[in-house]
Amino acid sequence: AKTHYHDFVIQPTRVKRLCKTHNAITVNGMFPGPTLEVNNGDTLVVNVVNQIKYNITIHWHGVRQMRTAWADGPEFVTQCPVKPGSSYTYKFTIEGQEGTLWWHAHSTWLRATVYGAILIYPKEGSSYPFPKPRRETPILLGEWWDANPIDVLREAIRTGGAPNISDAYTINGQPGDLYNCSSKETAIITIDAGETNLLRVINAALNQPLFFTIANHPFTVVGADASYVKPFTTTVIMLGPGQTTDVLIAGNQIPSRYYIAATAYQSAQNAAFDNTTATAILEYKTAPCPAKKQSNPIMPILPAFNDTAAVTAFSASFRSLKEVNIPKEIDEDLFVTVGLGLDDCPPEFGSDRCQGPNGTRFTSSMNNVSFVLPQTTSLLQAYQTDTPGVFTTDFPDRPPVRFDYTGNVDRSLWQPIQGTKVYRLEYGSRVQVVLQDTSIVTAENHPIHLHGYDFYILAEGFGNFDPDVDTGKFNLVDPPLRNTAAVPAGGWAVIRFVADNPGMWIMHCHLDVHISWGLAMAFLVEDGNEVMQTLEAPPLDLPVC
Ligand code: C2O
Repeated sequence: AKTHYHDFVIQPTRVKRLCKTHNAITVNGMFPGPTLEVNNGDTLVVNVVNQIKYNITIHWHGVRQMRTAWADGPEFVTQCPVKPGSSYTYKFTIEGQEGTLWWHAHSTWLRATVYGAILIYPKEGSSYPFPKPRRETPILLGEWWDANPIDVLREAIRTGGAPNISDAYTINGQPGDLYNCSSKETAIITIDAGETNLLRVINAALNQPLFFTIANHPFTVVGADASYVKPFTTTVIMLGPGQTTDVLIAGNQIPSRYYIAATAYQSAQNAAFDNTTATAILEYKTAPCPAKKQSNPIMPILPAFNDTAAVTAFSASFRSLKEVNIPKEIDEDLFVTVGLGLDDCPPEFGSDRCQGPNGTRFTSSMNNVSFVLPQTTSLLQAYQTDTPGVFTTDFPDRPPVRFDYTGNVDRSLWQPIQGTKVYRLEYGSRVQVVLQDTSIVTAENHPIHLHGYDFYILAEGFGNFDPDVDTGKFNLVDPPLRNTAAVPAGGWAVIRFVADNPGMWIMHCHLDVHISWGLAMAFLVEDGNEVMQTLEAPPLDLPVC
């Protein structure tokens, strides 16, 4: 196994999009940022140097970080932020994961432009469980704002309203030629005729689940979140923010030009659906004639933005490649609601009413606790140093009252409280979590991401989770292993994992506006008795607040 060394210099960079030039925050001047390529078993050492005026951290989304929680990255959870002018070196090993993950800033909304792909090739000496692709291409879906994304978030918090929606979706950083001033820079994805090509698709958008499709080129899905799946074919995939999907496409069409399209699935925050589509062009390397460049690319059939039936069928197609060893018994049985809420407008808003519905402000919560990050230390540092008063361990294992999660219910039943509450798990305990969308304010698809773990998704469904009926639907044979579950809008998903990684691990909605409003909690997994079960000592350059 190798060790790969990288420097990530966080710096402002001139970037032109949608006819305007911005000082965007990038890594090493690149947008999207550098692609990291490793084999399963390799170690990454990334020195992050902060040359911007904001605090920042970097998170290695989906990397298990076995016993290396100090390298996980979420601000105020496992570390204090890297301050302007300082640096921090993240060091971790990829253990047992193969496929596609990614990295992104985990500090306010900086991840809007600070993100990149992590390609994990098979362990040295082993190979893919599918025919070796001739070519492999990362495809990063994103969102672009004309304004500074940090200001967009600040304005939303200041007014209590919903943030402005993005001005474009992007494919490898480019909106594509259906947007103004974007045609010359449209991303080109080259494939080889007569060969199998692997596309590693990542949804790096801040707030938007996205459909992804290519004209005339059906996908064979072979992996997701750096785990292999039983291959299945589909013409469209859906990714919640945070999720990755690996697909094979055959270069077996007329070597013309084909549109690659990313378009919204549902729309965030009840905003009106706008039919903008990000595009890139699929080209055959062997395509001979430049005249073809003048012709319009072939357009795929786009799914309707509300085509939940297609999404449900798609997510039901995921199976682990092999039968898995899933805990049949559980020690911890949690029921966690995920959803939006509304709060009274605080007095400091003065005579200006809040901009949320009926003068309220938006909030979100898990089990009616809206998560508040500490500011003076991180949760993990507080735990290690026995600093009292930073967090409490009374995160509730179910909501305070059970009610109907399918529609509007009286606010007295779900009025959220604010708190820094974590849930303590004994090392090695077998954990099940029912994630239930509350449908308060609106039903939304919530991509729930757990740090430090992969989990099996046993079942998903709509309406209220009913243990008497829905337990019978659990797949205990070959459920997919994921790090982010797209919990159906107005429905539920059930996940299971073994708490075998000590540390402090945040679980949150990967719609950034929701985590900004508090849709998060954290698991404190205490060390076991043996060396391999304990957390490494913190690195000497771990930032202090
Ligand atoms: Cu990709 Cu905590 O996030």
